[in-house]
Amino acid sequence: MLIAQISDPHLRPSGVLYQETADSNGDLIRAIDQLNRLAPQPDLVVLTGDVVDHGSPAEYAVARDILSRLKAPLLVIPGNHDERGAFRHAFQDHAYLPSEGPLHYVVTVGERRVIALDVTIPGEHHGLFDAAAEAWLEAALAAQPDWPTIIMMHQPPIMTGVPYLDEYRCLGADRLAACIARVPAVERLLCGHVHRLMQMRFGGTLLMTAPSTTTAIALQIDPAAEPASFIEPPGFLLHDWRDAHSLLTHYLPIGTFPGPFPFA
Ligand SMILES: [Fe+2]
Repeated sequence: MLIAQISDPHLRPSGVLYQETADSNGDLIRAIDQLNRLAPQPDLVVLTGDVVDHGSPAEYAVARDILSRLKAPLLVIPGNHDERGAFRHAFQDHAYLPSEGPLHYVVTVGERRVIALDVTIPGEHHGLFDAAAEAWLEAALAAQPDWPTIIMMHQPPIMTGVPYLDEYRCLGADRLAACIARVPAVERLLCGHVHRLMQMRFGGTLLMTAPSTTTAIALQIDPAAEPASFIEPPGFLLHDWRDAHSLLTHYLPIGTFPGPFPFA
């Protein structure tokens, strides 16, 4: 089973640049065109939040239009830049999304699961895994505790060392780590938000963050560092879930590059 993970496209109304700098709409089109050329095709594409930048209906109209180009089925979760009501309206035909409350859900594929956790707080940039989310996740995990599982959420619950990212992490890390540690079948915890690829052990599983399809947040592990972004090569992840406990993750830069050349 192949799962492609794209993240943080930060779509803007047609003709508007993201942060007055980056063509985030065009960047997502290029990412999807590259995804659509993958052979074999992913069985699923997951989009780990910040679908749009300001949460406006005009941006979600762009999102609907661009995401309709995907050949593979799509699962979406909101990020801190999404607006829950507009998000829900935009993706109302996505039957896995609940009609009220936080946008948590479970999608099963055979005897495997993708669990989406909505840790966003309306109006805030940081996330929170609170007691209500814990109760929901514990019940979801307990439904099939032995099924291999991927959990996805927007804000990672980790300290990255980058001060302007850590300010907006998901709070409640200890609570979440304990919850996940009780279920060894959790193969990955997939996040977005930090616009960079990072990996860390968390709750006994592997936490990974995906790069954005548009700009990269500057890697500065200096407590005094000022927030900054760069237009680095964007990328996405391809998770090759071969069997229950064998999940290999590839990183792919988005773009066209010289080659192919012989390598031997
Ligand atoms: Fe983002």
